[in-house]
Amino acid sequence: MNHNLKIGICGWGNVATGLFEQLNKSPKNQSLEIVCIGARRDNPICDPGEIKVHRDIFDVIDEEIDVVIELIGGTETARELISKALNAGKHVITANKAVLYEHGNELLKLANQKNLYLLFEAAVAAGTPIIKMLSNDLGANQVSKISGMLNGTTNYILSNMENGVSFEVALEEAKDRGYAEPDPSLDINGTDAAHKIGILASLALNSNLPADKFHIEGIENISAADFKYADEFDLTIKHLAVTKKAGAQIELRSHPVLIDKNSSLGGLSGVRNGIQINTDLLGEFLIAGSGAGRESTASGLISDLIALSKHVESSPMNYPEFKDIPQIKPFESLDFSYYVYLEVQDQAGVLALVSQIFSENQISIDKILQKDHLADGKVPVVVFTDLIKESQMQKALKNFSEQSEIYFSKIIRIEN
Ligand SMILES: NC(=O)c1ccc[n+]([C@@H]2O[C@H](COP(=O)([O-])OP(=O)(O)OC[C@H]3O[C@@H](n4cnc5c(N)ncnc54)[C@H](OP(=O)(O)O)[C@@H]3O)[C@@H](O)[C@H]2O)c1
Repeated sequence: MNHNLKIGICGWGNVATGLFEQLNKSPKNQSLEIVCIGARRDNPICDPGEIKVHRDIFDVIDEEIDVVIELIGGTETARELISKALNAGKHVITANKAVLYEHGNELLKLANQKNLYLLFEAAVAAGTPIIKMLSNDLGANQVSKISGMLNGTTNYILSNMENGVSFEVALEEAKDRGYAEPDPSLDINGTDAAHKIGILASLALNSNLPADKFHIEGIENISAADFKYADEFDLTIKHLAVTKKAGAQIELRSHPVLIDKNSSLGGLSGVRNGIQINTDLLGEFLIAGSGAGRESTASGLISDLIALSKHVESSPMNYPEFKDIPQIKPFESLDFSYYVYLEVQDQAGVLALVSQIFSENQISIDKILQKDHLADGKVPVVVFTDLIKESQMQKALKNFSEQSEIYFSKIIRIEN
């Protein structure tokens, strides 16, 4: 049976107005009543009509409501708002991965103490269902690995760059469509995907929140030329966040990868997110869907509201216990094959120098390609390595940076 829920929405941006529109649109949502909105200013894209608006978002908590929906983003004010709402006896729903990543342990414990629920389906992959699926439906499984393309803006930008659009134009389009985070630098520098994989690791592998320091890298250094050279080998570039059981430790990382164009993740373009999950009973499977935007995020938020309306007496999801927290395996000890891009002096002997540096670091080369001169006369050299340790690659990069004949070097890890 569905209970009626009285709702207060905090924040009045892309996601909040998208939720408001969807709640008002469908007769299926009749048991979900918006009582008030916390908006410090009007938003020209949405008229709340007769609904009460508080200019101070904290006033929402004092209303006669069952649930506060936190849609302001950021960490510290959101943390205060969620704790105050829980302390005032309100359930909380949030789409905010940053506050969950930074303060999730504390807030989930508080919800538990107060016999209330903190739900966050929309915080990872927007409406694409992953949170309640991991916590409830996969309960019988041991999850061994999750590989996720978890940032819709990044995938939108990379897919557009692959089709010849510039980084800047693609980012502006992502902002216009409401895909980008309130601070888009968190999309671009890999932090948003890192928050999300941290949350998934905590649910699936009982990892701590926030996870210890782990490798986070964004898409700032990816260029159109990388797509061209990758394409020669049927590869494309995606931003991937991975967590994996590694004995008593876990692997956790968030960075761009070269990936087979025809793989299930490699083939997902635009704002789509894809999450590949390996489990003991189900084997490997993929879920994919829109990972950002007003409609998709509203879908995730309404799924939490419906779950809450059905489970006021019992928990709508199983929370991690945060016991025996596994440590993160040092990134330098992980094995990858690499795409290495160098810009070198147009001079005899430079290719031999490049080969020598690889050899001195015990790195075997799978392919080495010298490309046409750039406009400034430098020569691009593209190298694909065999499987080696990250620490070996880092030493080679340091050696490259010490050579006057080598002007620039960068790597992209290849994900198998
Ligand atoms: N956009 C997506 O596709 C997407 C998908 C999944 C999850 N999310 C998450 O959803 C949340 C909201 O994202 P959004 O895209 O809707 O952001 P947004 O468009 O920037 O909206 C944020 C809203 O919160 C208000 N706000 C921010 N800080 C506040 C404060 N200290 N006090 C009062 N109001 C405050 C803003 O008011 P002002 O306008 O006055 O600044 C604005 O109304 C974020 O946590 C984001 O990570 C977004």
